[in-house]
Amino acid sequence: MSYYKIHDLENYFKMYKKSVREPRKFWDRIADENFTWYQKWDKVFEFDMEEAQFKWFLNAKVNITKNCIDRHLAKRGDKTAIIFEPNNPDEEAQHISYNELYVRVAKMANVLQEQGIKKGDRVCIYLPMIPELAVAVLACARIGAIHSVVFAGFSSSAVTARINDSECKMVITSDGGYRGNKTIDLKGIIDEALEKSPCVEKVLVVKRTNETINMKEGRDLWLQPLLDTALGNHIATIMDAEDPLFILYTSGSTGKPKGMLHTTAGYMVYTAYTFKNVFNYEENDVYWCTADIGWITGHSYILYGPLLNGATTVIFEGVPSYPDFSRFWEVIEKHKVSQFYTAPTAIRALAKESIDYVQRFQLDTLKVIGSVGEPINEEAWHWYNDHVGGKRCPLVDTWWQTETGGIMISPIPFVTPTKPTYASLPLPGIQPVLMDELRNEIEGNQVTGSLCIKFPWPSMARTIWGDHQRYKETYFSAYPGKYFTGDGALRDEVGYYRITGRVDDVIIVSGHNLGTAPIEDTINEHPAVAESAIVGFPHDIKGNALYGFIILKETGEGRDRTNLAKEINQLISDQIGPIAKLDKIQFVSGLPKTRSGKIMRRILRKIAEGDFSNFGDISTLLNPEIVEEIKNAKL
Ligand code: PRX
Repeated sequence: MSYYKIHDLENYFKMYKKSVREPRKFWDRIADENFTWYQKWDKVFEFDMEEAQFKWFLNAKVNITKNCIDRHLAKRGDKTAIIFEPNNPDEEAQHISYNELYVRVAKMANVLQEQGIKKGDRVCIYLPMIPELAVAVLACARIGAIHSVVFAGFSSSAVTARINDSECKMVITSDGGYRGNKTIDLKGIIDEALEKSPCVEKVLVVKRTNETINMKEGRDLWLQPLLDTALGNHIATIMDAEDPLFILYTSGSTGKPKGMLHTTAGYMVYTAYTFKNVFNYEENDVYWCTADIGWITGHSYILYGPLLNGATTVIFEGVPSYPDFSRFWEVIEKHKVSQFYTAPTAIRALAKESIDYVQRFQLDTLKVIGSVGEPINEEAWHWYNDHVGGKRCPLVDTWWQTETGGIMISPIPFVTPTKPTYASLPLPGIQPVLMDELRNEIEGNQVTGSLCIKFPWPSMARTIWGDHQRYKETYFSAYPGKYFTGDGALRDEVGYYRITGRVDDVIIVSGHNLGTAPIEDTINEHPAVAESAIVGFPHDIKGNALYGFIILKETGEGRDRTNLAKEINQLISDQIGPIAKLDKIQFVSGLPKTRSGKIMRRILRKIAEGDFSNFGDISTLLNPEIVEEIKNAKL
């Protein structure tokens, strides 16, 4: 019997128990049977929860790209590794085989070394979603350089902060990037960012848009001529299991961005294992995750997880609304996608549009559909399940974080029965617990609390780059001996988990704990409402009261606002209770969102409190202009 692939519910429970009772044996066997190692480990893991020290597969030697590429060549050399779907549907898609990927990564690795990059050096990658992004990431891993991918939508000041924090020696960027009908001047942003980044010695530039750009003598080099003369084979650098693989900054909704550091072997084993199980990947499937490689979802489940399993993975340069709202569905039909993994925010946006956009396309190649990044509300869950999954594809609501490296709680398709809005059960090796305010573990079912993980797992971040103390304090101090996720969750009568949102989004009103997510779900059920966000604001009697920012659908816009507000409160009163009614409602045209689609609640909280003094850094917002608009409407 294989430990790697879970085939039914009984097998899941058996594996889960094994992973808890005998974690060493469990991970030892998975690592041993499914990867290529230069040298095996002396010990499976070693840890100290108080000090936040974790080591996996001690003293093993490995290179993750040998496992992502080289070992597939004999059997899958001609198989497509990457399908590149360009922003413009008239531009031809590219199919890159494993053989071609090998040569491209080898050439890039040789170029990096020729340009002086050595094991342990940090390389910032600021590229659009084009094949060169995947190649650059893998080439860094090939030579042991630590990649720090910065989403190519961040402003120059955000890029500077990230480059300087990890002292990157090199930046890999492009002349520009396409996003929908816009062209973005990426090189211009890098030029500006580098004015304050003295650590960067070289900039390699990919040609994508053919825009005229500035090339700084002695610093900037076009990549293609270097690749043209580079050798097409490369001996991978031997890495220790705990050598750093990459740094990835978390979105930084509060304070300085945190450079989460992930290391090699544990990350490799866990992303491969979870990809195989959560997406039920079979040999000829085409897998598509719509995230950007600039986020952890893209790292783990566009690149590493799929390639470690010899999968075909789609890299999509565009956006769901270009040329129109049918783009996702068109691409699924075009490439015969089997697994589709996206975010609730995209689902909600697309569900607002006419259903014709979906129904025009054949989606019957789909087997599994997935969701990630935020709680998926009931309405969006059903729309996705019914119209995209055709009620036939299991919908995997996957809960995890940049810090966790891989998916932690998720249904396993065709194994775990799904339940709307529930991430369901922990994957083998993951031991979630719910904690109360007194820091006690809450036993039993039908309970809610702060979600912690009480035992290490292979792909957990090892530290915050340059600030281990902050890592310890942020994640291992609130509940000593446990990893604190920052999320709240409930465990239902059968032990399924539902993530209720960040614990800091819970608002206590007259002594009652109210999660913002269930209230928002209820409001969103009102036929005139498109989206909403709830925050708390100080109230003399109740302690806190609720303030709702609500976006109306087009159909709701002509309606009387006072009546609408009454109806919304009636709905909340009916579904949750009068305690959850909103004291104030402001109808808005948009909500401030980070580029990963998360609502920046701290800004809404300040507006709700009437404190317009300092909104902090709003440069990473997708739509900074909305802040002014909401503020002015309130004044
Ligand atoms: O609050 C949880 C939410 O996203 C947070 C992690 O964000 P980030 O590090 O950007 O990673 C997102 C992609 C893995 C979590 O603390 N979150 C993520 N997935 C879910 C979720 N909330 C509810 N349900 C999910 N499936």
